[in-house]
Amino acid sequence: MRVFLAGATGAIGRQLVPLLLAAGHEVTGTTRSPSRAEALLAAGAEAAILDALDADALDAAVRRARPDAVIHQLTALPPRIDPRRIERDFAATNRLREEATPVLVQTAHAVGARVIAQSAASLYAPGPPGTVHVEDDPLIDPQDAPKPFQRTAQAVGEHERHVLAADGIVLRYGYLYGPGSTISVEGALAREVSRRRLPLVEDGAGVWSFVHVHDAAGAALAALAHTGPAVYNIVDDEPAATAQWLPALAAALDAPAPLRIPALAARIAAGSHSVETMTRAQGAANARARRELEWKPRYPSWRKGFASAVA
Ligand SMILES: NC(=O)c1ccc[n+]([C@@H]2O[C@H](COP(=O)([O-])OP(=O)(O)OC[C@H]3O[C@@H](n4cnc5c(N)ncnc54)[C@H](OP(=O)(O)O)[C@@H]3O)[C@@H](O)[C@H]2O)c1
Repeated sequence: MRVFLAGATGAIGRQLVPLLLAAGHEVTGTTRSPSRAEALLAAGAEAAILDALDADALDAAVRRARPDAVIHQLTALPPRIDPRRIERDFAATNRLREEATPVLVQTAHAVGARVIAQSAASLYAPGPPGTVHVEDDPLIDPQDAPKPFQRTAQAVGEHERHVLAADGIVLRYGYLYGPGSTISVEGALAREVSRRRLPLVEDGAGVWSFVHVHDAAGAALAALAHTGPAVYNIVDDEPAATAQWLPALAAALDAPAPLRIPALAARIAAGSHSVETMTRAQGAANARARRELEWKPRYPSWRKGFASAVA
């Protein structure tokens, strides 16, 4: 297949390019950077140098590539998300979802290509305590999201609606870890854990679902063999409370065990969104992706995955 990969140089894109090429696909990958374009060429892909917010350039590049499939892995998060500046730190990614997604979807439709796009498994409307979300659960209504997250919830909802309306496939990724991500040798979250700056809040009951960047890429490769509209949670087998995964990550980093602080102190230091994610977040289930995409993660649990990511 000819594949147009928007965001070929990010944490997921860098894993996905070699997987696509090894599976025999022809790849055109986007980047804004001439030096990263060189790396794509050296890897055996074609490169399209463009800013995805330039609609004409994006449209023209997709048409030039004449793809059978368009894979959308564009995001623009800073290496370290400041929990007190969530709105600012997600603004560029929201713009990509609001502005680049419709162009990718419309141009893909015009050239007869299918669309696969990344989304997030952390935006479900909260369910009763202990809920592990499946794909048919509703996403959070932007009005009900914490204030700094409302624009993101809105942008993600619209992004998914565009993709699904074009019979595309949405991959709702869990919290990414592995090379190029925030939990990696050079990653910002790993550094904070090493310095004992990421504490447990209250009883650490917030549940996170993780996925290794290699497995996130593997899901996009698997999705090429399928048609939508469809949504898949791309998460590992083991949603875990912060009280479980945070001490395990500290141990993998040879760092001291995390401190434990009350919610009030966390709210003052890092804002209410942090308290929510550390105490009330809920995980997601991957049964549909395993069954329908026949997706088999190399790291079915963060327990082994973290050790490999920070080794
Ligand atoms: N679910 C999750 O947990 C999750 C999801 C995403 C990110 N993160 C974290 O956030 C950090 C950054 O990751 P990321 O995925 O946002 O960034 P990333 O890994 O750097 O990937 C972003 C991709 O989008 C491209 N891109 C961004 N803005 C663009 C634009 N205007 N025009 C064209 N291409 C554009 C980049 O290309 P060029 O820069 O080469 O142009 C790159 O290929 C990581 O630490 C990661 O762990 C976490």
